[in-house]
Amino acid sequence: MSQSFHAMWASLRPLGRSDASGGYRRYAWTGADADCRLWFRMQAEARRLDVETDRNGNQWAWLGDPAAGDAVVTGSHLDSVPDGGAFDGPLGVVSAFAALDELRARGASFKRPLAIVNFGDEEGARFGLACVGSRLTSGQLTKEKAYELRDADGISLPQAMEAAGYDPDAIGPDPERLARIGAFVELHVEQGRALDLSGDSVGIASAIWPHGRWRFDFRGEANHAGTTRLVDRHDPMLTYAETVLAARTEAALAGAVATFGKVAVEPNGVNAIPSLVRGWLDSRAADQATLDTVVTAIEKAARERADKDGVDLAVVRESFTPVVEFEHALRDEINRILGGSVPVLGTGAGHDAGILSASVPTAMLFVRNPTGVSHSPLEFAPEDDCVAGVLALADVLEGLACH
Ligand code: GLV
Ligand code: MN
Ligand code: MN
Repeated sequence: MSQSFHAMWASLRPLGRSDASGGYRRYAWTGADADCRLWFRMQAEARRLDVETDRNGNQWAWLGDPAAGDAVVTGSHLDSVPDGGAFDGPLGVVSAFAALDELRARGASFKRPLAIVNFGDEEGARFGLACVGSRLTSGQLTKEKAYELRDADGISLPQAMEAAGYDPDAIGPDPERLARIGAFVELHVEQGRALDLSGDSVGIASAIWPHGRWRFDFRGEANHAGTTRLVDRHDPMLTYAETVLAARTEAALAGAVATFGKVAVEPNGVNAIPSLVRGWLDSRAADQATLDTVVTAIEKAARERADKDGVDLAVVRESFTPVVEFEHALRDEINRILGGSVPVLGTGAGHDAGILSASVPTAMLFVRNPTGVSHSPLEFAPEDDCVAGVLALADVLEGLACH
């Protein structure tokens, strides 16, 4: 099995990788995305699984009859953030195939259908909204809202889907597909150091923090950088800069996190005061009330500063995911299968498992990440821990699907 893991890892590694940064640029409906989808199909076919792509572009590889229902599903996503790491998403997909190889080597016989899934557009790197594939399938994103999504070049989501050879007319909720699933288990690299600190290679998820993305549009007045007196300026960059500082302060006060990780400037000239600064806030907290407090305080600070600078501010919430508490029964069952003493941890990262948990019993396994770094080319999990993750996933799938 560790050989099959190794071979899959090596074949997936070059796809969508930037030689310049060493990071991945696997964005929805691009050539790199198509390469990853082809890779998934080839892995599934090599294992004699039936591959289908659903109406929302998620790929499924089936062992057994999907119509039989009560399926055990595992998998994750293959897309990435800009210059993302190799593990966030792919580790769950590669481990799913490797766990199936392990179960076949054990001679396991399946009493429930098994599926391996690759959810489309989990990171939302291109269109700004995370978990588009699972949100559409579960009805948490409507077709109308999906049609409004645009990338940085103004290409809409349906245009991008069509250009990639998919039918955007078909997108929408897929309750029949969800009704076939008895349990979904997503394995994921840990995006923190809890397992490193506890000395465990594998953990189980308890909950996902509520999180959201807000777009702040600061509109000022373009003017000459050399000739405009400081007192005459309406500079949205200043307002933006103060807002970034306020976000840090408010998050620290509340024990939350708040990040401006993406910014667009118009006209983006070195010798011009900008007319527009658009910054995206990502904020997350352990509970809803804290998150509300933090975001309200950041917006208040931004408005106060905007008034001072003579700048207009519009704030739009682009996405929101409420707190997810994974189903206790499935979580306890998995812990029992794994021997009863696997650490249970919460996370501030979003996942398709969090979206699906509103519709089907869902659980997550985490694999140790010694540095905790994620969403970066430095993201890493040692091969021993990856193999431990595959064996744990195989045990879980065997316990759920084979007994
Ligand atoms: C996805 O990885 C997210 O947490 O934003
Ligand atoms: Mn991610
Ligand atoms: Mn992920």
